[in-house]
Amino acid sequence: MAKKIQAVRGMHDILPDETPRWQFLEDTVRRVFQSYAYRELRTPVLEMTELFKRSIGEVTDIVEKEMYSFEDRNGDSLTLRPEGTAGCVRACMENGLLHNQLQRLWYQGPMFRHERPQKGRYRQFQQIGLEAYGMSGPDIDLEVILISARLWRELGISGLELQINTLGTPDERKAYRARLVGYFQERRDQLDEDSRRRLNSNPLRILDSKNPDMAELIAAAPSLMDDLGEESRAHFSAITEGLDAAGIAYVLNPRLVRGLDYYSRTVFEWVTDLLGAQGTVCAGGRYDGLVEQLGGKATPAIGFAMGVERLVAVLEALDQARPAAALHAYLVVAGSAGQAGLILAESLRNALPGLRMQVNCGGGSFKSQFKRADRSGAQVALILGDDELENHCVGVKWLRQNREQIRVNHDALTGFLTEMIGEESRE
Ligand code: HAM
Repeated sequence: MAKKIQAVRGMHDILPDETPRWQFLEDTVRRVFQSYAYRELRTPVLEMTELFKRSIGEVTDIVEKEMYSFEDRNGDSLTLRPEGTAGCVRACMENGLLHNQLQRLWYQGPMFRHERPQKGRYRQFQQIGLEAYGMSGPDIDLEVILISARLWRELGISGLELQINTLGTPDERKAYRARLVGYFQERRDQLDEDSRRRLNSNPLRILDSKNPDMAELIAAAPSLMDDLGEESRAHFSAITEGLDAAGIAYVLNPRLVRGLDYYSRTVFEWVTDLLGAQGTVCAGGRYDGLVEQLGGKATPAIGFAMGVERLVAVLEALDQARPAAALHAYLVVAGSAGQAGLILAESLRNALPGLRMQVNCGGGSFKSQFKRADRSGAQVALILGDDELENHCVGVKWLRQNREQIRVNHDALTGFLTEMIGEESRE
């Protein structure tokens, strides 16, 4: 036998039994985003490698070790997008969406990172993200966080913790960076190899180290709060005051630095303890410098992205889901009525757009067709045999209720099914 080919490590199939939970999440997110006037943007999965180097940052885990980059046939270096923000900014600039305009946008799609796969961490994963452009005040920061909080409510997800921090402006960060480097340099012998390397290139990322041996050193490190100017302080406190007013609990986490370089001022993450190590289900912040950094006119920006696999896992852990919509009818057809069955089903679908019906294909005895009808979850089996064909009717057998089988004429059938569909929406 030929050797079977398997999926790429860290890349997963989402099977039909799992998709109802995904759809519940996607539908809810779409509805909530629309209700705040955010519009969907779709961008390619492949971008020029340079885009990610210049936005996420050369000295980040993503760009240094996790990107799926390759040369295409023209010799251009392309990369499978590891996240959505860079592509969103690129698309907005390229299509003139930022010129004298405010934008509220969202997107959804697969992202790719060559990380070590484990529960909640994959090499292809799905993000749903949201970005807002052109607004510099704390009001939009608050709106963005309120949207995320509303999502959890509408999804029936409780127990997430909001962690929030500010990274200040580039100048403030520069002052802080100098202080931080001084602190770590004095304690160089206590740094692990990764952190020593980052000391000169990206010292703030040392604060993000997961190495338990470094925890004490990091806890005692200087805080960026002390380097903030008045404006950054006011911006941040307007957000925390807004959260207080909205009744949304949060934890100030001065060690929250994020793994991408484009952030300034507000950063936040929503974290769960239901998933083990990979507990961040949604993360984002302000990135006022990025548009300019990519060659555009300075444009304030803020956004977040959710990890869909992680949120689906939370839904599963909390047993939150909308059940898959059951079929109304399963059409059982006698051998010779196969084609007539499909034609009848077409006319019913024309008349009843909400109808969910499966037609038996591939033959089978009545007995085996009824078994399939039962397994399909349908409310009724419609039966079309030679006798029914001749008499322009179908048999109706209730599969979930103890009721006598009846016959319904073709011209009464739409009325009969309309009633069934109507009953469902009244339930
Ligand atoms: P990020 O923190 O890199 O931010 O990713 C956002 C979320 O994507 C994470 O919190 C996590 O839920 C999910 N995620 C990331 N990597 C993986 C993985 N390997 N497997 C499964 N899920 C994963 C960003 O990507 C920014 N673009 C967010 C943003 C938008 N900031 C401003 N606007």
